[in-house]
Amino acid sequence: MSQYWSGRFAREGMIWGNEPSPSAEQAREVFRMAGVGSVLVPGAGYGRNTKVFSEGFTTYGIELSKEAVELAQQWDPKTVFIAGSALEPQLDRQVDAVYCYDVLHLFLEEERQRLIEACLAQLQAGGLLYFTSFSDEDPNNGCGHRLEPGTYEYKEGKYAHFFSDGDLRSHFSETEITESGSFLERLHSSTGGTHEYILRYIIARKRD
Ligand SMILES: C[S@@+](CC[C@H](N)C(=O)[O-])C[C@H]1O[C@@H](n2cnc3c(N)ncnc32)[C@H](O)[C@@H]1O
Repeated sequence: MSQYWSGRFAREGMIWGNEPSPSAEQAREVFRMAGVGSVLVPGAGYGRNTKVFSEGFTTYGIELSKEAVELAQQWDPKTVFIAGSALEPQLDRQVDAVYCYDVLHLFLEEERQRLIEACLAQLQAGGLLYFTSFSDEDPNNGCGHRLEPGTYEYKEGKYAHFFSDGDLRSHFSETEITESGSFLERLHSSTGGTHEYILRYIIARKRD
């Protein structure tokens, strides 16, 4: 996984351009209304979305690819980036909120649970979670070799899990889910191309 992403960041730089996802802006509003002071962004990439949070909150990013961390530190110097795996807790403090964009679907079932557990361990009681991931309504769902239920190698050497609403909610069954839904994400690459994905999002609260 690390080699794949590092290779892409080294070759393509800011792969998805510098505009944040509208979901980051929605999450910022949800966090602001709840009086959040600190945010963790696991799998932060090159900081495309961390910048939305670091303007107003103390923001931490965890990212596996050193190439991405180097780009992120230049693009968003206000966020503290940690090079490491988001599957394990990396912070020595707990934050008020977690925003995790399109990382959960990268893993098989056991690691998806580890990612959520690591996020919960770094989140204070009552803290908020905002996750996005591929939807089962995305056209790539069901393409290629099936590795696990709902998980497909949809491109050579690249697999993803495609979530139904019920599946996404069951991943967060230990939390208080406040909202879930889906949206069309349009990504503009640095080379001028456009890609569309159907994503799901979930907003939840860690139990006291
Ligand atoms: C689809 S990209 C999303 C990037 C970022 N969330 C954004 O909004 O632009 C997935 C990211 O997760 C990172 N990643 C993959 N496995 C990881 C892990 N175990 N720990 C931390 N980051 C990881 C990749 O390097 C890549 O930057």
